[in-house]
Amino acid sequence: MTAPALDPEALRRRALDALTTARERTRALTTCVDDRELTAQHSPLMSPLVWDLAHIGNQEEQWLLRNVGGREALRPDIDPIYDAFEHPRSERPTLPLLPPAEAHAYAAEVRGRVLDILERAPLHGTPLTDAAFAFGMIAQHEQQHDETMLITHQLRRGPVALTAPPPAPADTALLPAEVLVPGGPFTMGTSTEPWSLDNERPSHVREVAPFFIDTVPVSNGAYLAFIEDGGYEDERWWTPAGWAHVREHGLAAPLFWHREGGAWLRRRFGVTEPVPREEPVLHVCWYEADAYARWAGRRLPTETEWEKAARHDPATGRSRRYPWGDADPGPEHANLGQRHLQPAPVGSYPAGASPLGVRQLVGDVWEWTASDFTPYPGFAPFPYKEYSEVFFGPDHKVLRGGSFAVDKVACRGTFRNWDYPVRRQIFSGFRTARDARPEQV
Ligand code: AVJ
Ligand code: FE
Repeated sequence: MTAPALDPEALRRRALDALTTARERTRALTTCVDDRELTAQHSPLMSPLVWDLAHIGNQEEQWLLRNVGGREALRPDIDPIYDAFEHPRSERPTLPLLPPAEAHAYAAEVRGRVLDILERAPLHGTPLTDAAFAFGMIAQHEQQHDETMLITHQLRRGPVALTAPPPAPADTALLPAEVLVPGGPFTMGTSTEPWSLDNERPSHVREVAPFFIDTVPVSNGAYLAFIEDGGYEDERWWTPAGWAHVREHGLAAPLFWHREGGAWLRRRFGVTEPVPREEPVLHVCWYEADAYARWAGRRLPTETEWEKAARHDPATGRSRRYPWGDADPGPEHANLGQRHLQPAPVGSYPAGASPLGVRQLVGDVWEWTASDFTPYPGFAPFPYKEYSEVFFGPDHKVLRGGSFAVDKVACRGTFRNWDYPVRRQIFSGFRTARDARPEQV
């Protein structure tokens, strides 16, 4: 894998650009509603938006201002309020949060000082400053919260005053339903991608048996067939935990869907419309994805299979940064960065296809995998255990590929996301896979 080798000035520009892009998005997400909406809790699953805003500033203060910059603390008194581990999301509305104007001013004050540090900081010499890592980490952190804030907007009842053009219609060329990924060794993870996070490291070789994977994510139309076939009422398709969950909570369709007369409708950013059949299914939990796959006579891909489908170049045997190659994502490759406020129809982005022809692995919807979130051999927590290490284990399932709501800085072939198998307010979908029989290889 070729990581871009950048001189200090190019690195500084890249860091500045990533931080600026993130802040523009944060501003859009926190100025499109009034102060009451910013301070309200719209769902017990989410923080008030104003908590995310000041938490973004506080993480930046801790890592870039105090740690990298060696500057005096600006607001050490508010650290505990914005520590995600001290207060679960449901509790955050009761904290003495900075009011909206102060939260904006605080984040802006931190940023002003950080840009001054970025201009002079030596971008090498310590693990935090090498290749401007801490600046990239903080830009990713802000973008992750920008996705979280967009989820909060989706959970709000009212219309969302954010606009974006719809994605282009799908490429209409007839695509095969699935693609054969050859067996053999595959280099997973990375040791060279400069802004990769600790859980993506180190790179290591894994042996993978040949398998088939869907060319495109599972669509609403395909998922409707599962619903209409009584999938939610048929215990055969569900794991015991999934079945118990579906029964207890009365799940009958993806989150935000409801039936009216004979039609399925769904609410997106305050607008209710018929479910579009050609869009990737969104807002399903792991149990639903797993049950659909079993109903279809298939299974979810493992995390290793997903990454091999996304990065393996069969011509050279090497692993790419992205399905399309090593170039940073452009608008022709993938639906990322809240450029469109919805996933593109399945079959979109031919220029973003993998060498084997798998589409939309990056962007559109996060894809559930069969795998638990576990460390790679040789994992070392960096720079703090609370980013990844405390989440390793059987409680969390891995999601891959990134959604339309995540920025390119926080999305790559090696990037790993995780959540509880019951979660579905996130921008989650999936694709399915199956083992290849020897005579098919
Ligand atoms: C990687 C998306 C699971 O939102 O909980 C944000 C990212 N970590 N602040 C999350 C994160 C610390 C994290 N996920
Ligand atoms: Fe955070």
